[in-house]
Amino acid sequence: MSIEFSSGFAQNLKTAELRQNVKITLTALAHSAVEISLLCARGPLDTAFGALAGSENADGDSQKALDVLTDEIITAALKTVPVAYYASEEQDDLITLDTSKPLAVASDPLDGSSNIDTNVSIGTIFSIFEAKESAHASFFRPGTEQLVGGFFVYGPQTSLVITTGNGTELYVLDRADNRFKLAIAKMNIVEQAKEYAINASNFQHWTSPTRAYIEECQMGKNGALGEKQNMRWIGSLVADANRILMRGGIFLYPQDDRKGYELGRLRLLYEAAPVAFIIEQAGGLATDGTNRILDKKLETLHERIPFVFGSKNQVNRVKHHHDIKT
Ligand code: F6P
Repeated sequence: MSIEFSSGFAQNLKTAELRQNVKITLTALAHSAVEISLLCARGPLDTAFGALAGSENADGDSQKALDVLTDEIITAALKTVPVAYYASEEQDDLITLDTSKPLAVASDPLDGSSNIDTNVSIGTIFSIFEAKESAHASFFRPGTEQLVGGFFVYGPQTSLVITTGNGTELYVLDRADNRFKLAIAKMNIVEQAKEYAINASNFQHWTSPTRAYIEECQMGKNGALGEKQNMRWIGSLVADANRILMRGGIFLYPQDDRKGYELGRLRLLYEAAPVAFIIEQAGGLATDGTNRILDKKLETLHERIPFVFGSKNQVNRVKHHHDIKT
């Protein structure tokens, strides 16, 4: 297994040594992704699906929920590469691997887990930083300091979408020789689009700017937008982001008044920040409704943030509704 990195890959990183360490780390993550994609492909044939962490099957074998298993796969892989610290959605605290190493990795090992047992695309999201003097300092910083933002999608294709701040690339796993091959060298989100993605069942809980924007979308050509707006909601962030990278549109997971959703649902460190990096590098915008996601400095490890991203015309229109409210 390997990644056939493009000739320009990571050329914006400051030293050859740093580029090499990033490539080694990405290759280890790609190994994990192939293993996870095989587990996903076996679906209910595998005991990991739907089983509870720590439970046992009829033969007494231990069974693990897939999100716990994927975290173990990634942790094991990161122990073999130049990574000092690991921050995982599945772990309460930061993990120190080897303080002498130069990198720090944050990950949501299995994004879209509510779709696991429905045979819908899910994925692994990750972010790579240069390690600092402590685990805390390595992650509690703005997303602008990421070296790499990326995600794997486990769907009809197993793919890797990635940026180091030098444009966004798409690699697809070729099962014939088990190599990730460059499919799109420069992803480009169309600036003007008319497709929106939101979990509309939360309508009654939204703030007025979110309601105003979605009402405009629903009014189509009879509303302020003057055109029919299509809707898609997969419910796996990686799959919705991938669609927007391919054909434009907007994704919203805003704050709402349900308990626990005051800052939306998605986590800043290993969901919003890496996806925002990828989206901006493909020419899109990523905000919390008003402010740029990448400027937000992490304050608590698993903190959430309202997340709005996609084509410029649509993200700017959401901002307009927030601006006129304040
Ligand atoms: O945990 C993250 C996630 O599964 C995302 O992948 C997805 O965008 C979101 O949650 C779906 O949330 P909901 O089930 O509230 O629509």
